[in-house]
Amino acid sequence: TQSFRLGVAGLGTVGAAVVRMVARRAATLSAATGREIRVTAVSSRDRDRDRGLDLAGITWFDDPVDLARSGEVDAVVELIGGSEGAAKAVVEAALGAGKHVVTANKALLAHHGAALARAAEEAGVALAFEASAAGGIPIVKALREGLTGNAISRVYGILNGTCNYILTRMELEGLTFEACLKDAQALGYAEADPTFDVEGFDTAHKLAILTSLAFGTALDAEGVSVEGISAIQPLDLTMARELGYRIKLLGVAQIAAGGIEQRVHPTMVPRSSSIAQVMGVTNAVTIDADAVGELTLIGPGAGGEATASAVVADIADVAAGPVRPAFGRPTGRMQPASRVEMQRH
Ligand code: NDP
Ligand code: HSE
Repeated sequence: TQSFRLGVAGLGTVGAAVVRMVARRAATLSAATGREIRVTAVSSRDRDRDRGLDLAGITWFDDPVDLARSGEVDAVVELIGGSEGAAKAVVEAALGAGKHVVTANKALLAHHGAALARAAEEAGVALAFEASAAGGIPIVKALREGLTGNAISRVYGILNGTCNYILTRMELEGLTFEACLKDAQALGYAEADPTFDVEGFDTAHKLAILTSLAFGTALDAEGVSVEGISAIQPLDLTMARELGYRIKLLGVAQIAAGGIEQRVHPTMVPRSSSIAQVMGVTNAVTIDADAVGELTLIGPGAGGEATASAVVADIADVAAGPVRPAFGRPTGRMQPASRVEMQRH
């Protein structure tokens, strides 16, 4: 089996989970792609931090750009974060060196996605970003691959796990905004700078990515009107409750008179609506499309494992190349239940 060597830049909440998942799912990844996928290089700031990872045999790079250019990797997995600085430098270096890139970095894509996509195309490599929107929900694949036959008129939903977690706990447990945010940070949900979460910018970045995929328009993060949840008081939640509503931070992109309208703001949703039932770190994305009608995907919007799930799906796609085995190769580790039954009798 031909190997597929990964360089993982950033070993925080998501990066560490990805390294673990690639090792844990090695047999399945090989069966699905026909390649032996392994992490051969990593980069992070603090070499001495115990991340609970077995890095034996894996090359450490202090500078992630060196990792991106290294002959030891076929694809770079960028999990540093931020729209500028190291993350941008790594992705540009990787594409420049003709390496595939997998990233969860919505800030980078929202601001520089068009140029990076062009660079990837010119280099003939993939730029994959399933984890950049709605965490573990495969919304990018749904929009890119599953709905091409549809004309989409609206995409909206809860796109930030941290904000939904805060609003949920403030309402149900009467906790303060600050206490909930602290917990979201401890759980690895929040951005390195949580202002991006609570002021709505992270939702705006994700919305810009989904808008571009859904409507075939150029990425336009600056065109999103943004209001976050930092001004929401416990009294607002109580008032909403008494009126039969719940407050959710929504991102909405829809066809309007002048083009595509993109907005992010706290919204009163009826308590009986399905979106009002989406609690905690869970995200939900609804797509209105002419052929399938209304489609809603609900799932974990943040967290190491859930996000690694999306990153690893991209890694498998990129490793498999354009033609993926239809059902993968059977791993022989399990049999269909009916077979097991038949053998028993
Ligand atoms: P963390 O802050 O937990 O991890 C970031 C990592 O990057 C750290 O390991 C840090 O090193 C490393 N790093 C920072 N600067 C450098 C540098 N100059 N060179 C090398 N390494 C560097 O972030 P997350 O794991 O939470 O997020 C990573 C990306 O995934 C971000 O783009 C984020 O938006 C995105 N994302 C996160 C989700 C989540 O639930 N957390 C969900 C979906 C997307 P060190 O550890 O040594 O300090
Ligand atoms: N900080 C983000 C959130 C991570 O809370 O949704 C997932 O993109």
